[in-house]
Amino acid sequence: MCGIVGYCGRKNISEILLGGLKRLEYRGYDSSGIAVGTDNGITVIRRVGKLKNLIDAVPSMLTAQFGIGHTRWATHGEVSEENSHPHTDCSGKIAIVHNGIIENYQQLKDRLIASGHKFKSQTDTEVIAHLLEEAWDGNLTASVRAILPMLRGTYGLIAMHADVPGVLVGARRGSPLIMGIGKDEMFLASDASAIASHAQNVVYLDDGEIISISETGFSITDADNNDIKKPINDMEFENDDFEKNGFPHFMLKEIFEQTESISRGMAGRLDLAAATGKLGGLNMNENQLRAVRRVVIVGAGTSYFAGCIGANFLESMAGIPARAESASEIAYKDIIIEPDTLYFVVSQSGETADTLIALRELKRKGARVLGVCNAVGSTIARETDGGVYIHSGPEIAVASTKAFTSQITTFAIFALIMARLRNMTSVQGEAFIKAFQAIPSQIKEVLEQDSAILALAKKYCGYPNFIFLGRGVCLAAAYEGALKLKEISYIHAEGVGAGDLKHGPISLISEQMPSLFLVPNDGLRQKNISNIKEVKARCGKVIAICTRGDNEIAETVDDVIEVPETWPILSPFLMIIPLQLFAYHCAVLLGRDVDQPRNLAKSVTVE
Ligand code: M6R
Repeated sequence: MCGIVGYCGRKNISEILLGGLKRLEYRGYDSSGIAVGTDNGITVIRRVGKLKNLIDAVPSMLTAQFGIGHTRWATHGEVSEENSHPHTDCSGKIAIVHNGIIENYQQLKDRLIASGHKFKSQTDTEVIAHLLEEAWDGNLTASVRAILPMLRGTYGLIAMHADVPGVLVGARRGSPLIMGIGKDEMFLASDASAIASHAQNVVYLDDGEIISISETGFSITDADNNDIKKPINDMEFENDDFEKNGFPHFMLKEIFEQTESISRGMAGRLDLAAATGKLGGLNMNENQLRAVRRVVIVGAGTSYFAGCIGANFLESMAGIPARAESASEIAYKDIIIEPDTLYFVVSQSGETADTLIALRELKRKGARVLGVCNAVGSTIARETDGGVYIHSGPEIAVASTKAFTSQITTFAIFALIMARLRNMTSVQGEAFIKAFQAIPSQIKEVLEQDSAILALAKKYCGYPNFIFLGRGVCLAAAYEGALKLKEISYIHAEGVGAGDLKHGPISLISEQMPSLFLVPNDGLRQKNISNIKEVKARCGKVIAICTRGDNEIAETVDDVIEVPETWPILSPFLMIIPLQLFAYHCAVLLGRDVDQPRNLAKSVTVE
């Protein structure tokens, strides 16, 4: 969603701000803008549409040493230049960028208008600029501190004032904000990607903190003006992490990265000698893990589907009742927290509003909640009672691919740990680890079939509807495959349990409705074959993803992609790869904006 960046320093400010916004593009946006402090006051430039429109409008050499930038994803007010950020007060001396939603903006706006303020936009954000104007006492930090208690809702914001050159003040509640430290330059941003090429160190701000930066220093205080000391972390990303490195799209790069990202997620976490796994950050000893009677995994979108597969691992391998819940649902349920239930929240970005709200509700009610996150230092990672980083590296494409396989990697390791503390023998544990460690090279073999999958996409991308079917541990992989196809190609696709076909969805089957079946070589294979035959009998076209050498399936269906044999429980790792590639190629063939599909944001930081 919205991205923000701020800079104090002597480098070319347009390059820094526009470069930062470029790196934030992946989050999704519909307009963008910058404000810089010049000798003549604050200059604001905003444009609707792609960042290129803003880049074309900004003079290449702006002489300014402090400025802010924003990519907007419209919530309050249409997509227009007036509604784009930065927003200014009546005097034009104050400029604001804001990520989040001010829920009581209408009351504040009515009051401000009644006292003479003139509004120029329909946004919730503009009230912050006018409130600051009202509270202005010559000290930017003090004025920001004075107005924050009036704001209800969420914000990560940066403010600047023409009369305080070289200073930016940021504050956060519920929306991320980090500070970057470079050599004689300081940054603020919603996301490390915006500043990774310049900052060597980062400080992650927490809710309720207010930060002031200048080119040489910073100070962090709380609502009562107490100084706060924060750990200074190394910037963990390389510049290359944010480049396509020869691939036409980030999504394709990330699909092909999965051999390495999964290996990274396993590294140091599998102990063949003890035939178990090791996850350092759980903050639970073996007795506490043995006492767990149930596991609930909470996430949104792809992370929820990863949670469904994780629950399946736990039930099958460790015999622990486990289920996944959609974050947006559990947040508002009458949740009954049982003392021996362990909760996980899973999120690539670590900033998803639905998941964060669910986490806070669960914690309020006394649950122990662990996190499975990719973004280091993200809000969810910091607010959980412990957890695991999946280490898949920055995921830039809006459609999640490598984070999904890294999330299920983490759950497979956790299930192994739990199984070995219960029923699983060392012989089984060792065999599982060997099969698991073969997954990255088996994924490589699947990736080598890319041209066959492209041919399949050419044959099928003209169909307007698809059904994706699976059973058992592959059911959620079918849901995830359908989600991939719909979100980037805009082809309508539904994930359906193959066993549920006859309870309704079979009425959709016709020559015009292809079905894509996931058929691993497991105990449900025969049942899947029966379902395939039911579809074939109704003239439906069938594509199957099955195990290499499964001739019976190959002879029954219209098209087949084979994946190497693995333990049936591990089959989602291999079956999801052709689905990701299929979605990717369909989207490219249909001319879609693969990395930034319409209406979607990478990190959904509003409810
Ligand atoms: O960052 P998160 O994992 O919490 O994001 C959750 C969903 O918004 C995300 O997985 C979404 O469904 C993706 N667009 C899927 O490709």
